[in-house]
Amino acid sequence: MPVADQVKGLLAPLLPDVLSGRDLPPGPRGLDNALFVAKTTNDFMRPLISMAAEYGPVSATFSRGRTLVVLANHEAARHVLVTNQDNYVKGIEYELLRIVLGEGLLTSEGERWQTQRRLVQPLFAKRHIGEFVGQMTDATRDSLDTGPLSDLGEGEGLDINRAMMELTLDVVGRTLFGADLTGETARRVAPAMNDVLTLGTRMVRRLPTFVIASLPGFNMRRAIALNPESIRFRRAVEQLRGVIDELLVEREMSGDPGEDLFGLMLTTTDPETGEPMERDRIADELMTFMLAGHETTSNALSWAFRWLSLNPEARETMVGEVDEVLGGRAPSFEDADRLPWTRAVVEESMRLSPPAWMVGRKAVEEDRVGGYRIPAGASTMVLIRSIHRDPEVWENPEGFDPRRFLPENRGDLPRSAYLPFGAGRRICVGSTFALVEATLLLAMISQRYEFDLPPWASVTEDAAITLRPKGGLEMVAKPRLRLADAVVPGQAQLA
Ligand code: HEM
Repeated sequence: MPVADQVKGLLAPLLPDVLSGRDLPPGPRGLDNALFVAKTTNDFMRPLISMAAEYGPVSATFSRGRTLVVLANHEAARHVLVTNQDNYVKGIEYELLRIVLGEGLLTSEGERWQTQRRLVQPLFAKRHIGEFVGQMTDATRDSLDTGPLSDLGEGEGLDINRAMMELTLDVVGRTLFGADLTGETARRVAPAMNDVLTLGTRMVRRLPTFVIASLPGFNMRRAIALNPESIRFRRAVEQLRGVIDELLVEREMSGDPGEDLFGLMLTTTDPETGEPMERDRIADELMTFMLAGHETTSNALSWAFRWLSLNPEARETMVGEVDEVLGGRAPSFEDADRLPWTRAVVEESMRLSPPAWMVGRKAVEEDRVGGYRIPAGASTMVLIRSIHRDPEVWENPEGFDPRRFLPENRGDLPRSAYLPFGAGRRICVGSTFALVEATLLLAMISQRYEFDLPPWASVTEDAAITLRPKGGLEMVAKPRLRLADAVVPGQAQLA
């Protein structure tokens, strides 16, 4: 980066009006800008939400040496993610993920991304997801019979977020990896994942990290290494990579590549050179799917349990639907369509508590959004958390009301007003997988339990890369009368 730009970047938070020119979106300037930057050291999401509320759906500030544009309505989101998506690449927010995941589907760009997307996409076609459902429900049954959800007594407490992490990791293991990711593996993955997200986010948000990363000869990876937490962070990344390496070696030794994601990666060849995929690349892809494939879904489920506990009527309707459609049996793929209320609960939870609370992009060339200038190189953040609560679109935006997602009510929602899975060509490749999984798991767990927040609970949002309940989500179990038991008169027992 030229020295003039370096200096300009460093001074921008102090003298933004003078340096940036006119026509930029409104936002905090001068001292307000400096205060804004200070606030974002601990929490990025809240200051962005407040900024959008104060300055409008397209606002801008200067943070960490760059122009930061916040997009908080569906039109602006659509412009960046869909209509003019060719002008945007994954932004600085993905630097941390690149360190953890390497160049997998989530973080790569250009031809590399396109080739991988084409390769992987068919695995997520409806036909395959239908085949995965048996493994999803087996994993849930194991969790209910012998795992973290087994034998919970009336009023017994548990960290539902932890239980959902273990369950969704097990699902990824069975469906995509043909491997057992429970027990000891889950006990390695969960804390490592936690360290990667919390320490990683903390280091990246520090102003000095950004300043150092923009100095000649430095980059984000090097700047992060200067933080005191970086040793623990690196160890956590190694733990996760270690799990993938072990699985890869196991599969290679077995002599059968298999027909799952591993098999796909191990047997694919470059159409031009005929060479197999390099091992590092395979590991990057598998890391991506292990992490992207379970963390978000576990958060979606955790938030759903929380919203249901706060809305007993919605929960009663859902439990009624589950009992009527499934009785005591496990759900099938077709049941995902027969459980519209349960699915609507998942969708409404993701509206209010979107696991991906924002997606970030960098503008390649100068652009215009909402009548304002977006300079080349600016970071744009599509603030999904605010778009999902936009009063211009949603009636009673802060209220939890699954009815809005029932098939008969979905009607004329603007196309990018609801984006839990993003939009455009980088839309989540696992969206149908995730929605089917979350709906069926929620239904199955609700056959056995309801969960309540304890009276002392104070749940806060931790907007790391994903939106998670801070410090986990303590809930207490209310076992339900098992239908299978209840039909035998006189022998009804609590599950
Ligand atoms: C509720 C659960 C999930 C949510 C909320 C979610 C959300 C998202 C979002 C918002 C993106 C787009 C990021 C961007 O545009 O920058 C994305 C991409 C991605 N997701 Fe998901 N996701 C979920 C579940 C899954 C599952 C189950 C898998 C795999 C099994 C998965 C794998 C991926 C991958 C590989 C990408 C990158 C796609 C690409 O760029 O081509 N996700 N996800």
